[in-house]
Amino acid sequence: MAILGIEQLLYGVEDLEPSSRFQEDWGMERVDAGAHGTDFRLQNNTTVHLRRAGDGALPPATVRWLPHLSRSTLREAIWGVDSEISLQAIGAELSRDREVKTDSSGMLHAVDDCGFHIGFMVSRRKEVILPATEVNTVGTYARRNRQADGTRRRRVSPYKAGHLVYWVTDKLDEGARFYVERLGFRPTDNSPVMRFMRANGCNDHHTLLLQREPGLWGFQHVAYEYKDFDEVMFAGCHMEEQGWKTNTGPIRHNISSTCSWYLWNPGGGVAEAYADMDYVDDNWVVGNYDPKDPGFYGVSWAVRPGARRARPAEWIDD
Ligand SMILES: [Fe+2]
Repeated sequence: MAILGIEQLLYGVEDLEPSSRFQEDWGMERVDAGAHGTDFRLQNNTTVHLRRAGDGALPPATVRWLPHLSRSTLREAIWGVDSEISLQAIGAELSRDREVKTDSSGMLHAVDDCGFHIGFMVSRRKEVILPATEVNTVGTYARRNRQADGTRRRRVSPYKAGHLVYWVTDKLDEGARFYVERLGFRPTDNSPVMRFMRANGCNDHHTLLLQREPGLWGFQHVAYEYKDFDEVMFAGCHMEEQGWKTNTGPIRHNISSTCSWYLWNPGGGVAEAYADMDYVDDNWVVGNYDPKDPGFYGVSWAVRPGARRARPAEWIDD
Protein backbone atom coordinates (compact mmCIF):
# COMPACT_ATOMS: atom_id res chain seq x y z
CA MET A 1 0.00 0.00 0.00
CA ALA A 2 1.19 3.51 -0.69
CA ILE A 3 0.10 6.68 1.04
CA LEU A 4 0.84 9.58 -1.30
CA GLY A 5 0.35 12.50 1.06
CA ILE A 6 -2.24 14.88 2.47
CA GLU A 7 -5.42 14.74 0.38
CA GLN A 8 -7.92 16.80 2.37
CA LEU A 9 -7.82 18.97 5.47
CA LEU A 10 -10.97 19.57 7.50
CA TYR A 11 -11.07 22.56 9.85
CA GLY A 12 -13.71 23.58 12.35
CA VAL A 13 -13.58 27.38 12.62
CA GLU A 14 -15.20 29.90 14.90
CA ASP A 15 -15.58 32.60 12.27
CA LEU A 16 -15.85 31.58 8.62
CA GLU A 17 -15.20 34.98 7.05
CA PRO A 18 -11.61 35.69 8.15
CA SER A 19 -10.70 32.01 7.89
CA SER A 20 -11.92 31.89 4.29
CA ARG A 21 -10.23 35.18 3.42
CA PHE A 22 -6.94 33.86 4.81
CA GLN A 23 -7.07 30.81 2.52
CA GLU A 24 -7.84 32.98 -0.51
CA ASP A 25 -5.03 35.40 0.31
CA TRP A 26 -2.80 32.34 0.67
CA GLY A 27 -3.55 31.63 -2.98
CA MET A 28 -6.07 28.82 -2.81
CA GLU A 29 -8.93 28.55 -5.28
CA ARG A 30 -12.36 28.79 -3.65
CA VAL A 31 -14.50 26.08 -5.22
CA ASP A 32 -17.60 26.15 -3.03
CA ALA A 33 -19.05 28.41 -0.36
CA GLY A 34 -22.26 28.46 1.63
CA ALA A 35 -23.68 28.76 5.10
CA HIS A 36 -22.16 25.38 5.96
CA GLY A 37 -18.60 26.35 5.08
CA THR A 38 -16.05 26.99 2.35
CA ASP A 39 -14.04 24.61 0.19
CA PHE A 40 -10.70 25.33 -1.44
CA ARG A 41 -8.55 23.54 -4.00
CA LEU A 42 -4.79 23.45 -4.30
CA GLN A 43 -2.94 23.21 -7.58
CA ASN A 44 -2.46 19.44 -7.30
CA ASN A 45 -6.24 19.03 -6.90
CA THR A 46 -6.19 18.28 -3.16
CA THR A 47 -8.55 20.28 -0.96
CA VAL A 48 -9.08 22.24 2.24
CA HIS A 49 -12.53 22.42 3.86
CA LEU A 50 -13.64 24.98 6.44
CA ARG A 51 -16.71 24.19 8.51
CA ARG A 52 -18.36 26.00 11.39
CA ALA A 53 -16.87 24.90 14.72
CA GLY A 54 -20.29 23.87 16.00
CA ASP A 55 -21.02 21.58 13.02
CA GLY A 56 -22.13 18.32 14.61
CA ALA A 57 -20.72 16.28 11.73
CA LEU A 58 -17.14 17.30 12.58
CA PRO A 59 -14.83 15.13 14.68
CA PRO A 60 -14.12 16.82 18.02
CA ALA A 61 -11.26 19.30 18.48
CA THR A 62 -8.23 17.65 20.04
CA VAL A 63 -6.10 20.67 20.96
CA ARG A 64 -5.31 20.70 24.67
CA TRP A 65 -3.33 23.46 26.27
CA LEU A 66 -4.89 26.85 25.68
CA PRO A 67 -8.69 26.71 25.51
CA HIS A 68 -9.00 29.39 22.85
CA LEU A 69 -6.86 27.34 20.45
CA SER A 70 -9.58 24.68 20.30
CA ARG A 71 -12.19 27.05 18.97
CA SER A 72 -10.64 27.06 15.50
CA THR A 73 -8.42 24.14 14.60
CA LEU A 74 -7.83 21.21 12.30
CA ARG A 75 -10.38 18.49 13.02
CA GLU A 76 -9.36 15.75 10.58
CA ALA A 77 -6.52 15.00 8.18
CA ILE A 78 -7.36 12.82 5.18
CA TRP A 79 -4.49 10.90 3.58
CA GLY A 80 -4.60 10.06 -0.14
CA VAL A 81 -3.66 6.52 -1.18
CA ASP A 82 -2.68 5.14 -4.56
CA SER A 83 -5.45 2.59 -5.14
CA GLU A 84 -8.66 1.01 -3.92
CA ILE A 85 -6.60 -2.03 -2.95
CA SER A 86 -4.44 0.13 -0.69
CA LEU A 87 -7.53 1.68 0.84
CA GLN A 88 -8.93 -1.73 1.64
CA ALA A 89 -5.59 -2.85 3.08
CA ILE A 90 -5.47 0.16 5.41
CA GLY A 91 -9.05 -0.47 6.50
CA ALA A 92 -8.25 -4.13 7.26
CA GLU A 93 -5.07 -3.23 9.13
CA LEU A 94 -6.66 -0.57 11.33
CA SER A 95 -9.80 -2.63 11.94
CA ARG A 96 -7.66 -5.08 13.90
CA ASP A 97 -7.72 -2.84 16.96
CA ARG A 98 -10.00 0.16 16.36
CA GLU A 99 -13.22 1.24 14.78
CA VAL A 100 -12.96 2.17 11.10
CA LYS A 101 -15.99 3.88 9.59
CA THR A 102 -16.67 4.05 5.86
CA ASP A 103 -18.75 7.02 4.74
CA SER A 104 -21.05 7.27 1.73
CA SER A 105 -18.18 8.42 -0.50
CA GLY A 106 -16.06 5.40 0.43
CA MET A 107 -13.69 7.41 2.62
CA LEU A 108 -12.37 5.66 5.73
CA HIS A 109 -12.32 7.39 9.10
CA ALA A 110 -10.39 6.32 12.21
CA VAL A 111 -8.38 7.70 15.13
CA ASP A 112 -4.61 7.38 15.43
CA ASP A 113 -2.76 6.30 18.58
CA CYS A 114 -2.50 9.90 19.76
CA GLY A 115 -6.25 10.43 19.45
CA PHE A 116 -6.09 12.56 16.29
CA HIS A 117 -8.78 11.98 13.70
CA ILE A 118 -7.53 10.65 10.37
CA GLY A 119 -9.13 9.52 7.15
CA PHE A 120 -8.12 7.79 3.94
CA MET A 121 -9.36 7.99 0.37
CA VAL A 122 -8.14 7.06 -3.09
CA SER A 123 -6.20 10.10 -4.18
CA ARG A 124 -7.54 12.45 -6.84
CA ARG A 125 -4.31 14.39 -7.01
CA LYS A 126 -2.59 15.28 -10.21
CA GLU A 127 1.16 15.33 -10.47
CA VAL A 128 2.59 18.79 -10.98
CA ILE A 129 6.05 19.02 -12.53
CA LEU A 130 7.60 22.45 -12.83
CA PRO A 131 10.84 23.37 -14.59
CA ALA A 132 13.83 24.08 -12.35
CA THR A 133 14.27 27.68 -11.37
CA GLU A 134 17.19 29.05 -13.36
CA VAL A 135 19.77 30.55 -11.05
CA ASN A 136 23.07 32.12 -11.99
CA THR A 137 26.00 31.57 -9.69
CA VAL A 138 29.69 32.37 -9.84
CA GLY A 139 31.02 31.10 -13.12
CA THR A 140 27.93 28.99 -13.88
CA TYR A 141 25.09 30.71 -15.65
CA ALA A 142 21.78 28.86 -16.05
CA ARG A 143 20.16 32.04 -17.33
CA ARG A 144 21.66 34.17 -20.04
CA ASN A 145 20.35 37.34 -21.60
CA ARG A 146 17.15 37.35 -19.57
CA GLN A 147 15.99 38.39 -16.14
CA ALA A 148 15.12 36.02 -13.30
CA ASP A 149 11.49 34.89 -12.87
CA GLY A 150 11.56 36.42 -9.41
CA THR A 151 11.94 39.92 -10.83
CA ARG A 152 8.23 39.91 -11.72
CA ARG A 153 5.97 40.16 -8.69
CA ARG A 154 2.90 37.96 -9.05
CA ARG A 155 0.22 36.25 -7.01
CA VAL A 156 1.25 32.72 -6.19
CA SER A 157 -0.64 29.62 -5.25
CA PRO A 158 0.43 26.57 -3.23
CA TYR A 159 0.94 23.31 -5.14
CA LYS A 160 0.16 20.95 -2.30
CA ALA A 161 -0.22 20.53 1.44
CA GLY A 162 3.16 18.96 2.13
CA HIS A 163 3.17 18.12 5.82
CA LEU A 164 1.37 18.24 9.14
CA VAL A 165 2.79 18.82 12.60
CA TYR A 166 1.21 17.86 15.90
CA TRP A 167 2.26 18.47 19.49
CA VAL A 168 2.03 15.11 21.29
CA THR A 169 3.21 15.79 24.87
CA ASP A 170 4.40 12.38 26.11
CA LYS A 171 3.25 10.18 23.21
CA LEU A 172 6.17 10.73 20.86
CA ASP A 173 7.28 7.10 20.48
CA GLU A 174 3.79 5.67 20.65
CA GLY A 175 2.47 8.14 18.09
CA ALA A 176 5.33 7.60 15.66
CA ARG A 177 5.13 3.81 15.99
CA PHE A 178 1.54 3.86 14.79
CA TYR A 179 2.40 5.69 11.58
CA VAL A 180 5.56 3.65 10.91
CA GLU A 181 4.38 0.16 11.86
CA ARG A 182 0.72 0.36 10.90
CA LEU A 183 0.75 2.74 7.93
CA GLY A 184 4.23 2.26 6.47
CA PHE A 185 5.60 5.75 7.07
CA ARG A 186 9.41 5.99 6.83
CA PRO A 187 11.34 7.70 9.65
CA THR A 188 13.62 10.37 8.22
CA ASP A 189 15.10 12.22 11.22
CA ASN A 190 14.80 11.94 14.98
CA SER A 191 15.61 13.87 18.11
CA PRO A 192 14.57 13.33 21.72
CA VAL A 193 11.61 15.60 21.07
CA MET A 194 10.84 15.11 17.37
CA ARG A 195 9.98 12.36 14.90
CA PHE A 196 10.11 13.29 11.23
CA MET A 197 8.40 10.82 8.88
CA ARG A 198 7.49 10.64 5.22
CA ALA A 199 4.54 8.78 3.76
CA ASN A 200 5.80 5.72 1.88
CA GLY A 201 4.47 6.99 -1.45
CA CYS A 202 6.12 10.38 -1.14
CA ASN A 203 9.76 11.49 -1.34
CA ASP A 204 9.47 14.70 0.66
CA HIS A 205 11.73 14.73 3.71
CA HIS A 206 8.63 14.75 5.89
CA THR A 207 4.89 14.54 5.49
CA LEU A 208 4.36 14.28 9.24
CA LEU A 209 6.22 15.57 12.28
CA LEU A 210 5.34 14.72 15.85
CA GLN A 211 6.81 17.08 18.41
CA ARG A 212 6.99 16.63 22.17
CA GLU A 213 6.68 19.53 24.55
CA PRO A 214 5.33 19.21 28.09
CA GLY A 215 1.73 20.30 28.30
CA LEU A 216 1.21 20.85 24.58
CA TRP A 217 -1.17 18.64 22.64
CA GLY A 218 -2.79 18.88 19.24
CA PHE A 219 -2.53 20.45 15.82
CA GLN A 220 0.37 22.84 15.34
CA HIS A 221 0.80 23.63 11.64
CA VAL A 222 0.29 22.56 8.07
CA ALA A 223 2.86 23.42 5.41
CA TYR A 224 2.13 24.31 1.79
CA GLU A 225 4.65 23.90 -0.97
CA TYR A 226 5.45 26.69 -3.40
CA LYS A 227 7.72 26.52 -6.42
CA ASP A 228 10.82 28.18 -5.12
CA PHE A 229 12.37 30.75 -2.83
CA ASP A 230 10.82 33.69 -4.69
CA GLU A 231 7.34 32.21 -4.46
CA VAL A 232 7.68 31.78 -0.68
CA MET A 233 8.73 35.43 -0.46
CA PHE A 234 5.82 36.50 -2.69
CA ALA A 235 3.38 34.51 -0.54
CA GLY A 236 4.69 35.84 2.79
CA CYS A 237 4.93 39.45 1.60
CA HIS A 238 1.41 39.32 0.19
CA MET A 239 0.01 37.89 3.42
CA GLU A 240 1.64 40.60 5.53
CA GLU A 241 0.35 43.25 3.11
CA GLN A 242 -3.16 41.85 3.64
CA GLY A 243 -2.73 42.29 7.39
CA TRP A 244 -1.99 38.71 8.43
CA LYS A 245 0.60 38.19 11.15
CA THR A 246 3.87 36.38 10.73
CA ASN A 247 4.60 33.68 13.28
CA THR A 248 8.15 32.94 12.11
CA GLY A 249 10.15 33.80 9.06
CA PRO A 250 11.48 34.01 6.54
CA ILE A 251 14.05 31.40 7.53
CA ARG A 252 16.09 28.48 6.16
CA HIS A 253 15.72 25.31 8.25
CA ASN A 254 18.59 22.94 8.69
CA ILE A 255 16.58 19.69 9.06
CA SER A 256 14.83 19.19 5.69
CA SER A 257 16.46 22.36 4.21
CA THR A 258 13.27 24.29 3.54
CA CYS A 259 13.00 28.03 3.08
CA SER A 260 9.92 28.79 5.17
CA TRP A 261 7.61 31.56 6.26
CA TYR A 262 4.92 30.85 8.90
CA LEU A 263 1.76 32.86 9.43
CA TRP A 264 -0.97 32.63 12.06
CA ASN A 265 -4.06 31.09 10.51
CA PRO A 266 -7.40 32.28 11.95
CA GLY A 267 -8.77 28.87 10.93
CA GLY A 268 -6.38 27.19 13.38
CA GLY A 269 -2.70 26.95 14.23
CA VAL A 270 -0.18 28.16 11.73
CA ALA A 271 0.23 27.88 7.96
CA GLU A 272 3.74 27.50 6.57
CA ALA A 273 4.79 28.46 3.06
CA TYR A 274 7.88 26.49 2.05
CA ALA A 275 10.06 25.53 -0.89
CA ASP A 276 13.20 23.52 -1.59
CA MET A 277 12.61 20.60 0.78
CA ASP A 278 15.04 17.65 0.72
CA TYR A 279 13.94 14.92 -1.69
CA VAL A 280 14.74 11.57 -0.08
CA ASP A 281 14.32 7.85 -0.76
CA ASP A 282 15.14 4.67 1.15
CA ASN A 283 18.88 5.47 0.86
CA TRP A 284 18.40 8.49 3.14
CA VAL A 285 20.37 8.09 6.36
CA VAL A 286 18.16 8.84 9.34
CA GLY A 287 19.70 11.52 11.53
CA ASN A 288 19.57 11.55 15.32
CA TYR A 289 19.84 15.12 16.47
CA ASP A 290 20.88 16.24 19.90
CA PRO A 291 19.15 19.43 21.03
CA LYS A 292 22.53 20.60 22.35
CA ASP A 293 24.11 20.37 18.89
CA PRO A 294 24.25 23.51 16.81
CA GLY A 295 22.78 21.54 13.89
CA PHE A 296 19.64 20.74 15.84
CA TYR A 297 16.31 21.79 14.32
CA GLY A 298 16.88 25.44 13.85
CA VAL A 299 17.80 27.83 11.13
CA SER A 300 20.89 28.70 9.15
CA TRP A 301 19.53 32.21 8.70
CA ALA A 302 16.51 34.19 9.80
CA VAL A 303 15.68 37.52 8.23
CA ARG A 304 13.99 38.74 11.39
CA PRO A 305 15.36 36.73 14.32
CA GLY A 306 13.24 38.79 16.69
CA ALA A 307 10.12 37.53 14.91
CA ARG A 308 10.92 33.90 15.61
CA ARG A 309 8.03 32.72 17.72
CA ALA A 310 8.22 28.98 17.38
CA ARG A 311 8.75 28.42 21.09
CA PRO A 312 5.67 26.84 22.63
CA ALA A 313 5.26 29.50 25.28
CA GLU A 314 4.79 31.95 22.45
CA TRP A 315 2.39 29.73 20.54
CA ILE A 316 -0.43 32.03 21.44
CA ASP A 317 -2.40 33.92 18.84
CA ASP A 318 -2.56 37.49 20.01
FE1 LIG B 1 6.75 22.63 8.82
